[in-house]
Amino acid sequence: MSNSEFKFSPENIERINKEIAKYPEKKPAVMATLYIAQEQNGYISNEVIKEVATILEMTSEDVLGVVTFYTMYFQKPMGKHHIQVCTNVSCMLRGGYEIWNQVKEKLGLDNMGVSADQKFSLEEVECMGSCGTAPMIAVNEDYYENLTKEKVEEIINSLK
Ligand code: FES
Repeated sequence: MSNSEFKFSPENIERINKEIAKYPEKKPAVMATLYIAQEQNGYISNEVIKEVATILEMTSEDVLGVVTFYTMYFQKPMGKHHIQVCTNVSCMLRGGYEIWNQVKEKLGLDNMGVSADQKFSLEEVECMGSCGTAPMIAVNEDYYENLTKEKVEEIINSLK
């Protein structure tokens, strides 16, 4: 992990201030602030934790507690294409595990693994709210639904 300081961009400071303004105290804005931090930095480093703690008048330990509790926050840099494969009930019943195994094998990665060239990272996830169009995967913010093994192959091959 680098030792360089982390500072939010002016636009993100504005977004954080809007979040803070929704509550009587600063602390409830921690999840949104961490989300914005991850968007800017790619993951939650120790420096990010320190900066979030300072802004929200929390201890670094309290911020770290939130980061480690929720799986959506990454504590290490992930790949350019972060692939999430849902294996929860609806997806599982419609081939989610076959897709999970397919992607694992194709990329040579395990859960939370990152490829050596940082191009891909892989995560097995719980329901992402697309059960009606299961099975599904997400690549960064984009959802791909009603998948077959062939479609998955195509999607991954198309990622540059
Ligand atoms: S179970 Fe996979 S999106 Fe809901």
